[in-house]
Amino acid sequence: MVNNQIEAQAAPEARSLILKNLGILLSGRGSNFEAIAHSIASGKIPDAHIAIVISNKPEAGGLETAKKLNLPTAFIASKGKGREIHDREIVAALREHQVDLVCLAGYMRLLSPWFVQQFPKRILNIHPSLLPAFPGLEAQQQAFAYGVKVTGCTVHFVDEELDHGSIIVQKTVPVLDSDDEHALTMRILEQEHLAYTEAINLVLEGSYDIAGRRFVRKTSVHR
Ligand code: GRF
Repeated sequence: MVNNQIEAQAAPEARSLILKNLGILLSGRGSNFEAIAHSIASGKIPDAHIAIVISNKPEAGGLETAKKLNLPTAFIASKGKGREIHDREIVAALREHQVDLVCLAGYMRLLSPWFVQQFPKRILNIHPSLLPAFPGLEAQQQAFAYGVKVTGCTVHFVDEELDHGSIIVQKTVPVLDSDDEHALTMRILEQEHLAYTEAINLVLEGSYDIAGRRFVRKTSVHR
């Protein structure tokens, strides 16, 4: 996605008063964040705007992109800090920007239980496999090496366990005989960008129940 093709998001006061504030946490490239910003600018996510983009890495490409889009940004160093100490700094920044929904977009750090409890069912993560298969790092490579014929991506609520909370959206991607890890990763990434927009809309619409682990929609209305 080309950064400068994303229009600046409309000022919140110029849009609906019920816009929800998204807080984006990232550590790297930030293509999922860009996809979310693009969906907001193009009206595919009509009920939200991005209130703050936070990185724990100063060199994160996503932070640069956010600055170009004139979004509020913060670099909050994690190096050398205990997990909860760092998380308290992040949560303070999220609160300062009145964030309603936290979106992890390539945020390479586990959240402390304390952080998770601050935003119950209000933290989303995207993972590049069909969970519960291949949690953890390098999920695309894990799937490729295992030899699965279908893989994909998952957007889920974050709970206290790694890549574990209730699943909101999954998208499948076939593994082709001609694939290498890179080609497969890029096709999964295309689906990630679609899946995150879909999941944010579902959560913001709020028409769902959690039955055990299951995220179940109350209506068939679909954006
Ligand atoms: C994505 O593959 C995402 O699923 C994983 O980290 C990667 C981040 O990519 N959690 P990007 O920074 O959004 O481009």
